[in-house]
Amino acid sequence: MNAGASPCTHTAVLLDEAVEALVHSPDGLYVDGTFGRGGHARAILGRLSPQGRLVAFDKDPQAIAAGAALHDARLQLVHASFAGMRQVLAQFGITQVQGVLLDLGVSSPQIDTPERGFSFRFDAPLDMRMDTTRGETAADFLARADERQLTQVIRDYGEERFAFQVAKALVARREGGAVIRSTAELAEVVAGAVKTREPGQNPATRTFQALRIHVNAELEELEQGLSAALELLAPQGRLAVISFHSLEDRIVKAFIARESRDEPDRRVPMAPPRPSRLKALGRRRAGAAEVAANPRARSAMLRVAERTAVQYGLAGGVATAQPGRAKGTRSPLRRRAGGGSGGQTS
Ligand SMILES: C[S@@+](CC[C@H](N)C(=O)[O-])C[C@H]1O[C@@H](n2cnc3c(N)ncnc32)[C@H](O)[C@@H]1O
Repeated sequence: MNAGASPCTHTAVLLDEAVEALVHSPDGLYVDGTFGRGGHARAILGRLSPQGRLVAFDKDPQAIAAGAALHDARLQLVHASFAGMRQVLAQFGITQVQGVLLDLGVSSPQIDTPERGFSFRFDAPLDMRMDTTRGETAADFLARADERQLTQVIRDYGEERFAFQVAKALVARREGGAVIRSTAELAEVVAGAVKTREPGQNPATRTFQALRIHVNAELEELEQGLSAALELLAPQGRLAVISFHSLEDRIVKAFIARESRDEPDRRVPMAPPRPSRLKALGRRRAGAAEVAANPRARSAMLRVAERTAVQYGLAGGVATAQPGRAKGTRSPLRRRAGGGSGGQTS
């Protein structure tokens, strides 16, 4: 969160870059999969014509409630995971959209509200659910998971070298009758098990990240959301994803790379390769000025891809090939001459 911002605000990251890359058709229908406090949503609406439309999702009921203040007939808010966007949109009669934005992870209001239990900076009940209306809290997970499961979650989602030692300490404490219910209790146990210190980082950082990712099924839902977006995008539609750590970015990068390759059809050895459904348009990091103003932007990575015109039929055959983006059209992530924010392009 920016200095001076209240716990209820969120500073949108890579705002102009993401929205500029996303919105290419002002009359179009767009999806914001992660409404948060509506920073990106407002900017998208700002680029849409009166005919344009935005459907915005968030798992967090508080985000959806905050969105009620945004009175705009073109905006529809949905309390649901973006993983299920296809089904939700189908209920509205929508089968195609011009763009999907995912700005992943947690919002500043989630991290900075002690009762949400995301942060070791406050002592509070260990909840960590983005969707507080359903699912298991982090405390409930710690109360039931065995040592093997805990090790796996902390190692795979926190990339914690001492995952086994942390898991062992957590189970030992539970078996001693002291069930972990608060952020401070968890941070204390982790600090006792993590033997080396990373400069400037609380020893509990990795374990908190791991539990948050697990409790919210973040990586599974990201995979589902990317696939859903691909199915929904109209030809020339844009996918823009902002990630905040390497686990997320790896998934986004691999997805775009895989879908941007012409795939040989293994069932028919001599058949021409199936043409790709996406075209990678580039990636971008926040520039120095944005990072100085908002440290959260430091690890942000925006990746953008464009839907080609290729449609796969039910039998797997290629059905259509209308022209995609005209040859020589500039990538939306190319820096404008003289206007650099210092971010990278590729
Ligand atoms: C980084 S914030 C988005 C901030 C937003 N772009 C803005 O400008 O205010 C991430 C938001 O996405 C939500 N979120 C994370 N994963 C989600 C998912 N699978 N489905 C729906 N919302 C999700 C979180 O609850 C949080 O509110």
